[in-house]
Amino acid sequence: MKKDAITDLPLNDLIASRWSPRAFGPEPVTPTQVRTLMEAARWAASAFNGQPWAFIVATKDDPEGFATALSCLVEFNQSWVSSASVIILTFSARHPAGGRANAYADHDLGLAASQLVLQATALGLASHQMAGIVADRIKEVYGVPEGFAPMTAIAIGHPGDPDTLPEQLAERERAPRERKPQSEFVFSGAWGKAL
Ligand SMILES: Cc1cc2nc3c(=O)[nH]c(=O)nc-3n(C[C@H](O)[C@H](O)[C@H](O)COP(=O)(O)O)c2cc1C
Repeated sequence: MKKDAITDLPLNDLIASRWSPRAFGPEPVTPTQVRTLMEAARWAASAFNGQPWAFIVATKDDPEGFATALSCLVEFNQSWVSSASVIILTFSARHPAGGRANAYADHDLGLAASQLVLQATALGLASHQMAGIVADRIKEVYGVPEGFAPMTAIAIGHPGDPDTLPEQLAERERAPRERKPQSEFVFSGAWGKAL
C-alpha cells in the first residue's frame, strides 16, 4: 500500500513515499539488501565523524534469532512485527568505554536510522521504527557493553496488505498521514515568530 505524504512543496520521492506500515508481505529480504541498508547507515554524517552507533540484525531465515529479537519488543509491537522479515535493534554510543561522553550520539544515530529507512524505501522495502523496546532485556540477552544505550528497533519487510491486520490496526494503516504546519515549528527573528 502506498501512502505518500501530501507535501506543501514538491519533495524528493523517497522522502514523500517513506511511511511506517504495520502490514508486511511474506517475501524475504535478501542478505544483500540487509547489507545495503547497513551501508546506508554507515555513511551517515556524525559529529567529529564519531559514528556513535551500533546495530543488531535479526532475519527471519534464522527463526531462533528472529524470535529473540521479537521478544525484546513491547507486546503491542510484537503483535505486528512478527510478520516483518528483519528486525534491527539500534544502539547509541553515548558513553563509549574509555572515550568521552558524546552529547550528539542520539542525534547521529537518528541520522543513520533516517538514511537506513530511506535506503529501504529506495529498495522498495517497508520500514517501521519503534521506541517500544525492552531495553533491559536487550542489554541482558545480547550482552550489550556499558556505554551503549538501546534506543529503537526497526522492522523491515516487503509492503503488505492492510487486510491481514486486526481491524483496529488496519484502520490506522489506512488513516491519512498528518503533520503540524511549518508555522508551529519554523521560526525567524524570535521564538514563536513564524518564518
Ligand atoms: C523513534 C520512533 C519511535 C516510534 N515508536 C513506535 C512504536 O513503538 N510503535 C509503533 O507502532 N510505531 C512507532 N513509531 C512510528 C511512528 O508512530 C510514525 O513514524 C509516525 O506516526 C509518523 O508516521 P510515518 O512514519 O508513516 O510518517 C515510531 C517512530 C519513531 C521515529
